[in-house]
Amino acid sequence: MSETTAALSTFAKDIHSGLTSNPKCLSSKYFYDEKGDQLFQAIMGLEEYYLTRCEFEIFDQQKVEILKRFLGTDTSFNLVELGAGDGTKTKVLLNHFVSQGVDFSYSPIDISQHVLDVLSEDLEKSIPKLKVNAIQGDYFDALAKLNENHFQKEVVLFLGSNIGNFSNGSAPKFLKRLGDNLGSGDMLFIGFDLMKDPNVILSAYNDKLGVTKEFNVNLLRRINNELGANFDLEGYEHFPTYNPITGETKSHLVSNKAQEVFIEATGETYSFDAWEAIHMEVSQKYSLKTIHQLAEQAGFKVVKNFTDENEFYVDSLWEKI
Ligand SMILES: C[S@@+](CC[C@H](N)C(=O)[O-])C[C@H]1O[C@@H](n2cnc3c(N)ncnc32)[C@H](O)[C@@H]1O
Repeated sequence: MSETTAALSTFAKDIHSGLTSNPKCLSSKYFYDEKGDQLFQAIMGLEEYYLTRCEFEIFDQQKVEILKRFLGTDTSFNLVELGAGDGTKTKVLLNHFVSQGVDFSYSPIDISQHVLDVLSEDLEKSIPKLKVNAIQGDYFDALAKLNENHFQKEVVLFLGSNIGNFSNGSAPKFLKRLGDNLGSGDMLFIGFDLMKDPNVILSAYNDKLGVTKEFNVNLLRRINNELGANFDLEGYEHFPTYNPITGETKSHLVSNKAQEVFIEATGETYSFDAWEAIHMEVSQKYSLKTIHQLAEQAGFKVVKNFTDENEFYVDSLWEKI
């Protein structure tokens, strides 16, 4: 592997590094190829997946107050969305802001070009008056590009509990780095899934129709298609866990037999023992107390917490100090 490392794509390098780690792991940021985007949209519509409905309810019921807080004493802002996805929920806010004649532009950022193409086309038709500047890339590369022409107040959206995909150790570093990219008075509107009945949480990652399993297995399919691998897609069981003490939900694919996988792009064979697991994704659940600590550590003050009726979920509005 070493001589060819330099020539390998970042994707191949990351997969190699994950499959040679102990325990094995794969980064959830690679879930989103075209099929992954579609599967995630199907997940958002699942009965068990309460997160999307909660955030939709918050935006729908509290959009007037949200806009008031975004504006503060300003008359305009640039709305930036990290990991925008299909923007279904964001459109509730965008429609409201446009209907109120607010002076703002919208910059969705996503690693998936496919999802940005679908979103841009949809927005052009459904909200023609909206100024859209879509940027493909990793969160920070895209933010850096955006900051080259940053004159207005920035309001950054980080929705869908995307922050939950960072481990407990890495979330504070990520938020600090995000804060370092913003100026005093800029805002961050961030969706956190709250700790609740563990059975409700676990079912959201273990749906009856098996869509979440398919979403996880699709990453193995992607590695087969893009890196010339030979993963047996039937050879892995989907096994999520929730730890009510730490708030960590983890998704695993567990090899249901001893097996070997060859990846052409890395030129390596990877061995799995029977019942050896690959850690696929973390979906962290938070308490309000931890959210306040995170804001403070990253150099923000909490302006307001917007929760749904069940208090399952919170969109927390922070201002950079
Ligand atoms: C869980 S989806 C959430 C989508 C949307 N925010 C929502 O709430 O419905 C995560 C989105 O973030 C994007 N994403 C994941 N990791 C990323 C990264 N490191 N940089 C940029 N986008 C990323 C994915 O492509 C995907 O569209």
